[in-house]
Amino acid sequence: MLNYYNHNAKQLFDKYQSLDPDKVHASWLRHLPQNPGLALDVGGGSGRDAAWLAKRGWEVIVVEPATVLLELGQKTTGIYPVLWINDCLPILAKLQTYQHSFSLILVSGVLMHLPYQQRIDSMETLTGLMAKDSLLVVSLRQGPDSEGREFYQVPADEIVQFAETKSLQVEVTNTLEDVLKREGVTWQTIIVEKRVFR
Ligand SMILES: C[S@@+](CC[C@H](N)C(=O)[O-])C[C@H]1O[C@@H](n2cnc3c(N)ncnc32)[C@H](O)[C@@H]1O
Repeated sequence: MLNYYNHNAKQLFDKYQSLDPDKVHASWLRHLPQNPGLALDVGGGSGRDAAWLAKRGWEVIVVEPATVLLELGQKTTGIYPVLWINDCLPILAKLQTYQHSFSLILVSGVLMHLPYQQRIDSMETLTGLMAKDSLLVVSLRQGPDSEGREFYQVPADEIVQFAETKSLQVEVTNTLEDVLKREGVTWQTIIVEKRVFR
């Protein structure tokens, strides 16, 4: 899996950078907290979303396991308060040493690369990193993959049920067409909110 992202890093970097984050994230933007804080972008790829959040005032930590992609991404976010960590789900062992919790966690187009138990373990890790009032956004790609990557069809319900066991509030957005117009590819976003009532 990581071989794919490393071997094709430059081409993928250009592809991810060509997308407008306002369009990619349109389905959950209304939930973005008004006051920026500390954000985590897991599988941050080209750094497109980290730069987008940083421009909105967020401090961002990007976790990216593919080192070649990470190096390219780091260059694009150089002028912003963005820290890159070479780490991966399900454990995020290096990130955990910082003992941060996050107001926003973005996991965009990542979880469908992991098999079932790793996805559940990842959700355990991710929900454990949520700050008291916070948002976890998981986008899932559905449909075929022509590029031969390890890919699983992940039902949104799997994430919803997990979040509900943690008493978190969950919303699933309508299925959206692929911004890259790939045949048969659609996207779903699961918005998980942790609210602490005072
Ligand atoms: C389809 S790309 C999405 C990149 C970016 N989030 C975006 O929306 O443009 C998937 C990303 O997940 C990363 N990835 C793959 N397996 C991962 C894992 N176990 N933990 C964290 N990231 C992973 C890949 O290296 C790649 O950067």
